[in-house]
Amino acid sequence: MHGDDVPSFFNEETHDKKGNDAIFAMLARCMEAKSAGADVINATVGSLLDDDGILAINSVVLEQLKNAESIEYAAYSPLGGKPDFLDLSITTALGHVRSKLENLGIMATSTATPGGSGALRMSAANLASRGDKVLLRERHWGPYQGFLREAGLKSATWPLLGTDSEDSHPDFAMPEFETALTDLINEQDRVLIWLNDPAHNPTGLSMSPSARDDLLDIVMAQASSNLHKGVTLYIDSAYTLYAEETHGWAETILEAIESGLPWPENLLICFGISFSKSHTMYGMRCGAIVTVHPNQELLERIDEIFVATGRSTWSAPTRLPQDAIVRIHSDEQLSLKWEEERDAFTKLLKDRRDKLLSSCSDLGVKLVPSHDGFFAFLEHDNPSAISEACASRHVYVVALAGGVRIGVCAANQNQMTRLAETLKYAIEEVNE
Ligand SMILES: Cc1ncc(COP(=O)(O)O)c(C=O)c1O
Repeated sequence: MHGDDVPSFFNEETHDKKGNDAIFAMLARCMEAKSAGADVINATVGSLLDDDGILAINSVVLEQLKNAESIEYAAYSPLGGKPDFLDLSITTALGHVRSKLENLGIMATSTATPGGSGALRMSAANLASRGDKVLLRERHWGPYQGFLREAGLKSATWPLLGTDSEDSHPDFAMPEFETALTDLINEQDRVLIWLNDPAHNPTGLSMSPSARDDLLDIVMAQASSNLHKGVTLYIDSAYTLYAEETHGWAETILEAIESGLPWPENLLICFGISFSKSHTMYGMRCGAIVTVHPNQELLERIDEIFVATGRSTWSAPTRLPQDAIVRIHSDEQLSLKWEEERDAFTKLLKDRRDKLLSSCSDLGVKLVPSHDGFFAFLEHDNPSAISEACASRHVYVVALAGGVRIGVCAANQNQMTRLAETLKYAIEEVNE
């Protein structure tokens, strides 16, 4: 139903709400071809599949979910989350750096959310004003736009990759970021930046330590020279537990503080935590928003605000996964066993990515730099044509704005050469 056919009970905001996204549509085609007997490569989904195409599950997590006391299944969670879970989520964000930051007076608070998606929604509801633009990289996870729409927000972007200019990094378009941030600070009373790093979806790009330093410097400098404006750097760390520098951002913050940079009162740093991927509990909807700031009173106020938003959006977070995660990580043996399985998944991803990157490089197929996590990305200005050309050879990738996403998490290592060859064929066919 479109235009005049739309019944009047739908409000205007519904007009942009469309059904099945590109990922699920392509997955359905892949499954259909597979049932018809085709030798398919499924590089569509965003969950980690084992080499037989079955969802990879961390057995420690599954066992602890099943072993929970009845009350953990049945009772409500405290509205902001269980205290021991909240503490653990802060350590998940800051790792070994946490105590050093605390000794320097940089404190953190946490509110439990339904996955990393809930954390994004929470920041959109409270850290930007209706009509504002949230600053994103040009390539970003598709649902970001939906979270913004639901909160009455828009986006402004800066490019994912730098140009060859001297002051750019290969993995961070620094001058463009600085300009975009300055423009927004001049236009709005508060600026929220969503940065998905490390192991960016959809490219697998992870920023280098020097790029992180420079980004934080710019944010701190802008906040310091605009003390009457609010600035929030929200680090979406959904894939960080599969990245080489898991706590890279906490290290960058610590280095900035140790080098004597004063923390501007009007700067917040948030970490969006998702346990969906790291603990293979996608359906459990478990995550948190961790907020870092030197002022304890302000952090308490943030807690109050976030709990109020949670209460009137999803009521309480899910209790069972919070309990299971705490039991795992407060037991040395269980925690080690979880880590071993997580490490095996990380190796699976690394081996697949290495094979894809080397096969593409041998064939002259240029992918966006890809380091960690679930995805790799081929830029192209006709992504649908590329994904259709691939699908004609039963290789299924997802067409997104600006290119196609390759699910390293879904296709296995032995399929990577064929995948690279198919990308080459598709590029040649479409560019002809
Ligand atoms: C970039 C990014 N951020 C956040 C999330 C949130 O995940 P969830 O809500 O399942 O925890 C995802 C999930 O795919 C993601 O890709």
